[in-house]
Amino acid sequence: ALISLRQLLDHAATNGYGVPAFNVNNMEQVRAIMEAADETDSPVILQSSAGARKYAGSTFLRHLIQAALEEWPAIPVCLHLDHGASAGVCVQAIQNGFSSVMMDGSLMEDSSTPSSYEYNVEITKKVAEMAHACGVSVEGELGVLGSLETATAGKEDGVGAEGKLSREQMLTDPDQAVDFVEQTQVDALAIAIGTSHGAYKFTRPPSGEVLAISRVKEIHSRLPDTHLVMHGSSSVPQEWLKTINEYGGELGQTYGVPVTEIQEGIKHGVRKVNIDTDLRLAATGAVRKHLVENPGNFDPRKFLSEAIKAMKEVCRSRFLAFGPAGWG
Ligand code: G3H
Ligand code: 13P
Ligand code: ZN
Repeated sequence: ALISLRQLLDHAATNGYGVPAFNVNNMEQVRAIMEAADETDSPVILQSSAGARKYAGSTFLRHLIQAALEEWPAIPVCLHLDHGASAGVCVQAIQNGFSSVMMDGSLMEDSSTPSSYEYNVEITKKVAEMAHACGVSVEGELGVLGSLETATAGKEDGVGAEGKLSREQMLTDPDQAVDFVEQTQVDALAIAIGTSHGAYKFTRPPSGEVLAISRVKEIHSRLPDTHLVMHGSSSVPQEWLKTINEYGGELGQTYGVPVTEIQEGIKHGVRKVNIDTDLRLAATGAVRKHLVENPGNFDPRKFLSEAIKAMKEVCRSRFLAFGPAGWG
């Protein structure tokens, strides 16, 4: 059954777990996620970006999700718009049956230029008013996503010599978070605590506290009813990186966010954990391996089945690690 992000995350908060939010673009991803959720008895967040819409088309995306709801009627599913770049994109998602939208006002409509705080408040508030009138939940974003490895050491204001921001400038400011939620009334807030999108997050194996978990604690204690969201939460499985490179891929050495750090975040108020890269890596590794080992095969179902199996395993381990397994 389709449920809103608010309904799903309120339950997660009451019961102290976090929910992985996987990006979906195709049938194989939807099937991998739903089968893993079914086997672990977990609720699901399926999210689609503008890139997903461009790839599959909104009609196909809508019917893919509809198919998942029909095949697994007992699983609660939230259908969420990932990184909505404008109010218009959010409206279209609502018209397409999404039960939750992210208005990412931390960036301008081009999705790359950082916006002003005032712009972010204004546009997010507008979307929240409209979405709430339709029973749809809203996620906002505050702060600059990015690895703290790249932050300048100083705490001084102004952009550093190399055009880099200081740690303080990147992390979400707790006072501003309180004001933002009060003004916009968002249900969930994506915060910057040292994660970044994509496979290249950290150049060294992360040790100790790679994320600013103290920020999560502080923001959560001041906004107990706002569900915190961690973007860029892929763990970059080293075994899949190795498989990809063993079978002809050329990915550089890189590290992701350890599952143990995400679990720390969940303990302190993170409820939605965004994962896209890990499923991409697993699918790519599985397909590369199959094609190299089976040079005579030209039936895509054979290598796509391997991709589903690999993605499903990643999903299952995240459902088990983040705690929603056995929610009922
Ligand atoms: O936040 C980015 C997600 O990984 C979605 O990526 O825009 O390539 O679909 P995408
Ligand atoms: P990853 O690139 O770490 O998977 O993050 C995905 C994400 O945050 C989607 O919004
Ligand atoms: Zn994101």
